[in-house]
Amino acid sequence: MDKKVRVLVVGAAFAANLHVEGYVRCPELATIVGLADKRPERVKELADRYGLKDYAQYDDWKDAIDNVDCDVVDICLPNFMHHDVAVYAFQKGRHVITEKPLATTLEDAREMLQAAEKAGKRLYYAEDWLFAPALLKALDIVKEGAIGKPLYYRARECHSGSHSPFAQTIAFCGGGCMIHLGCHPISFLLALKENKWTELMAMTSGGKENNLVHKQMEGEDWSACLIKFQDGTSALIEANYVTKGGMEDVFEVYGTEGCMHVDLSFSSPINVFSIPGLSYTVEKAEITTGWSRPAVDEKFNLGYVSEIRHFMECIRDNKDAKIGLRGIDGYEALKVVQAIYKSAREGVKVVNEELK
Ligand SMILES: NC(=O)c1ccc[n+]([C@@H]2O[C@H](COP(=O)([O-])OP(=O)(O)OC[C@H]3O[C@@H](n4cnc5c(N)ncnc54)[C@H](O)[C@@H]3O)[C@@H](O)[C@H]2O)c1
Repeated sequence: MDKKVRVLVVGAAFAANLHVEGYVRCPELATIVGLADKRPERVKELADRYGLKDYAQYDDWKDAIDNVDCDVVDICLPNFMHHDVAVYAFQKGRHVITEKPLATTLEDAREMLQAAEKAGKRLYYAEDWLFAPALLKALDIVKEGAIGKPLYYRARECHSGSHSPFAQTIAFCGGGCMIHLGCHPISFLLALKENKWTELMAMTSGGKENNLVHKQMEGEDWSACLIKFQDGTSALIEANYVTKGGMEDVFEVYGTEGCMHVDLSFSSPINVFSIPGLSYTVEKAEITTGWSRPAVDEKFNLGYVSEIRHFMECIRDNKDAKIGLRGIDGYEALKVVQAIYKSAREGVKVVNEELK
């Protein structure tokens, strides 16, 4: 493809901001030709924030896919909608980028993969951790042998609760904090281990009145999983909605010759004390007064900007994304999430039958 990739973004809320920041930072590769959201004021806000012009605006995602001449549909809609929108976009001959989780059920996820295959189009899975510069540097450090042979990992994404009204309901979201937040550390570790996990055991708070804090939420607000990989390493994965003070994105590696701690959210070089407070510090921080570590270029450092560039280069070159970012990787991550829910529900160890 020697022209720019033409993008239709469906959904104009939080995730759309993350993606649009990526598109406007690679103007030589991509152009946003359409934006759709059932709340038109959100489209306007998004377009104004990023100075977007010459885009078609729709309230209805189907109308948008029918009418906007684009190469790729970028799905920034609630989890339960990923399936229908992706399948429709494939039927109309578009590539698809979708936010995490790939879908709310494995059946939906499989249908998305099949629809891509049938249409001869590609499904790209937006996992930003795989482009976070600090995590890429950490992997380089492991690769050069600086901490010896990795033995054990700890990875977590935690904050005080989702901003999305859809996150309250299992039918809309597919679960609680593990599917919504845990999918980041899961996908990251699966990409490192080429999806070769062998067994896992998990606990969750269970949802509703069993939750620690969010008693109205159908999905769990606390969860943890121990997982083993085929190469003999293991990991502790945590996700919860009971963490105050801002989003924690943490990755730790313990090796035969050393260890490494990576903190994606609170590792800013700026340490500020403010009595009136700042307009913003880090994602989900409740207050900004007193001492804080305001993020520097958060959307870049969490990986969103480079993730979008990667997808644009893949579409331009008619290539699959790298491991961790293909539709099949989103499916594998969802399989692990579902295995975690089974383990927690039934109190059993879940073995990956495909690797037996
Ligand atoms: N990668 C990340 O770090 C990250 C962060 C946040 C959200 N997400 C994912 O992004 C997706 C979107 O989440 P969000 O937090 O942006 O917002 P959200 O779930 O609150 O809703 C997204 C937007 O979809 C619109 N919408 C809902 N139904 C619609 C319909 N039928 N037609 C048109 N528009 C409709 C809403 O008006 C809203 O503006 C989710 O899958 C979520 O898991 C990913």
